[in-house]
Amino acid sequence: MDDEFEHRLPNAEQLHAMTDQSLHAAFAGESQAAEKYLVFAARAEDEGLLNIARLFTAISFAETRHARNHYRVLGGINATADNLQVAFEGESFEIDEMYPAYQEIAVLQGDKQAQRSIRYALKAEMDHKRMYAEARERALKGKDIADQPVSVCLVCGHTVIGDVPDKCPVCAASRAAYRMF
Ligand SMILES: [Fe+2]
Ligand SMILES: [Fe+2]
Repeated sequence: MDDEFEHRLPNAEQLHAMTDQSLHAAFAGESQAAEKYLVFAARAEDEGLLNIARLFTAISFAETRHARNHYRVLGGINATADNLQVAFEGESFEIDEMYPAYQEIAVLQGDKQAQRSIRYALKAEMDHKRMYAEARERALKGKDIADQPVSVCLVCGHTVIGDVPDKCPVCAASRAAYRMF
C-alpha cells in the first residue's frame, strides 16, 4: 500500500462519524416509513381492505422499533430536562427558520395546500415550544407538570393543555375533533 493511498483512508473517528450519519439517515427513513404506513393503513381501511390495513399498521410498528433502536445507539436519549431542551430547540428551529423558509417557497410557487399545511404546523410548533420550555423549568426542579389532559386537533395538530376550545383556533374544527391524551 503506497503512502498516498494510506493517507486517504478514513481514521477511526471518521469511520464512526460515517456510522453516525448512516444511523441518522436510517432513523429519519424508518420514522418516515412508519408514518407513511399508518396513512396507507387508514386508506386501506377506507377501502374495506382490513387485513391489508392491519399489515400496514403492524409493519409501521416494526419500523418504529428500528427507528428507536437507531436513535438509542446514537445516544439521543438523556435525562428528561435535557430531552426537553432538545425538543425545545427542534421546535424553535422549525418556528424561526425552517417553516418560514418553506412558507416563502410555497407562497412563491403559489401552492395553497402546502401553505395551509405549513401554517397548521407552524402554529402548533409555537405552542409546543412554549409547553416544552415550561415543562423543562419544572423538570429542572425535579418536578412533573400539572396533571391535566393534553389534547390535539386531529385536523391541524393544534395542541392544548387542559380545556379544549369549542372550535379549533387554527383550523376551526369542532371540539369533537380533538384527541385527548
Ligand atoms: Fe411541534
Ligand atoms: Fe385544528
